[in-house]
Amino acid sequence: MSQAAEQVVAPWWRGAVVYQIYPRSFADSDGNGIGDLAGIRQRLDHIQRLGVDAIWLSPAYRSPMVDAGYDVSDHCDIDPLFGTLADMDRLIAETHARGMRILLDYVPNHTSDQHPWFIESRSSRDNPKRDWYIWRDRPNNWVAAFGAGSAWTLDERTGQYYLHLFLPEQPDLNWRHPEVIGAMYGVLNFWLDRGVDGFRIDAVHCIGKDPTFNDDPHCAVGQPLMLHNDQPYSHEVCRGLRKFADAHPSHCVLVGEIFVRSTEAVLRYYGEQDGLHMAFNFSHLDTPWDEVDARDRIREVEGLLGPKGAWPTWVLSNHDFPRHRTSFGGSMRRARAAAVMLLTLRGTIFLYQGEELGLEDAQVGPDEQVDPGGRDGPRAPIPWESIPPHGWSGEKPWLPFPPHPSTHAAETQWQDEHSILHLYRRLLAARKASTALRYGDWEELSSPLEVLAYRRRCGEDERVVCVNFSGRPQQFPLAGRWLIEVVSEGEGEGASYDGNLDAEQALVLKRAGRESGAESRG
Ligand code: GLC
Repeated sequence: MSQAAEQVVAPWWRGAVVYQIYPRSFADSDGNGIGDLAGIRQRLDHIQRLGVDAIWLSPAYRSPMVDAGYDVSDHCDIDPLFGTLADMDRLIAETHARGMRILLDYVPNHTSDQHPWFIESRSSRDNPKRDWYIWRDRPNNWVAAFGAGSAWTLDERTGQYYLHLFLPEQPDLNWRHPEVIGAMYGVLNFWLDRGVDGFRIDAVHCIGKDPTFNDDPHCAVGQPLMLHNDQPYSHEVCRGLRKFADAHPSHCVLVGEIFVRSTEAVLRYYGEQDGLHMAFNFSHLDTPWDEVDARDRIREVEGLLGPKGAWPTWVLSNHDFPRHRTSFGGSMRRARAAAVMLLTLRGTIFLYQGEELGLEDAQVGPDEQVDPGGRDGPRAPIPWESIPPHGWSGEKPWLPFPPHPSTHAAETQWQDEHSILHLYRRLLAARKASTALRYGDWEELSSPLEVLAYRRRCGEDERVVCVNFSGRPQQFPLAGRWLIEVVSEGEGEGASYDGNLDAEQALVLKRAGRESGAESRG
């Protein structure tokens, strides 16, 4: 099938841009200093105007909040901090009414230790739910995440240890138990019946455990198992989830979080087109602004995933990792150029809230720290209004604002057409309007070392993107006549391209007229 024909039947998520909302920090409707679902609803205008295709909500389920909601105590209810089920129903309906989809976070590897399932499981060795979790008489050397020490905690009452690859308050479910599988599929059904369009699956690579429970060599040198755990049983679970999704009338989409830093490992979660629809690839996520690294990562993804028909995802930040600007030494120019690159790559793009405002991580003092994993910086509240308290009236927000909240506030930036917010809006519009950018091939063009250049093409539609990573101007002449469609910083949109790039500038180029056959220099 030609690419042009393929895009006609492509599912909505191919080439889409998904905006990640971290509910605690997005918008607060009730003035308690913590974001909530009604707050998100009140700010849907911003998201719609930005032009994304879908939102993904980090967990808003009932939770003791030891890991900010990734410790779920009821998968089928909303935590009162965030609102009610009725609020979630309204949010789903209003998101759809605005032509966007909504994905929820699905946390299958573990629950909270306050989940009724675990309370039962730990109540006695012969409780019917004992084997819903993983109990052993003796620990092995497995190490938990977040510096929590051993991945095994002794339950004094029953004299056995339970496994937790994250905090002791997050016991791991036993996905080899058919009742656990049934109950966790029940959770998916619950939310699909309420109309959600898919799930981001938390730490899905952690589900399958080495059945021998042998010591792990990475743990022997103190590394948490969750950075390396990659068992065939996790792939089997993913195939089961995919079968479920395909059979469900919603045809929901599944994107898995794989923390293992290896594109080969990530690829295995796609199966042979029978695994997850998509998987996050964090291999190069927290690397600096560097042309060699950017080339390596894109070539690697295209080279490994392309031939397998595995649809890539691109992520440069999220609630666990530093923001773009923070990773790039604070530079706004780089953040703007990175936005051009991110939104023109082949794949589905996941954009973390606040990147469109060019925020940096907040400076969180020792007395203000909340997260046991030290990840508070990118979780700071979004500044909405130019004047303090930036749309967070009421109690002080649960974390300090990012630096320069007035300058970066959404209100300030919507009023300035040169802002990074408007750059994101223009990039999203350009992506939406171009089958090449959304679905087309990716082909690297020969270019000076400091300039990353690629062509996206789908049938007749074609774009060239060039990103100058260096701090000085570069030349990158192209044969044929090209117009500048989007420029990361500076003037020139709509003008002819003359082969010159400013320092740390990125451009999206479009052919002028309908000439064809022109090639890049090389
Ligand atoms: C994922 C989440 C992270 C959480 C962890 C445990 O990696 O993104 O925030 O702490 O899973 O659920």
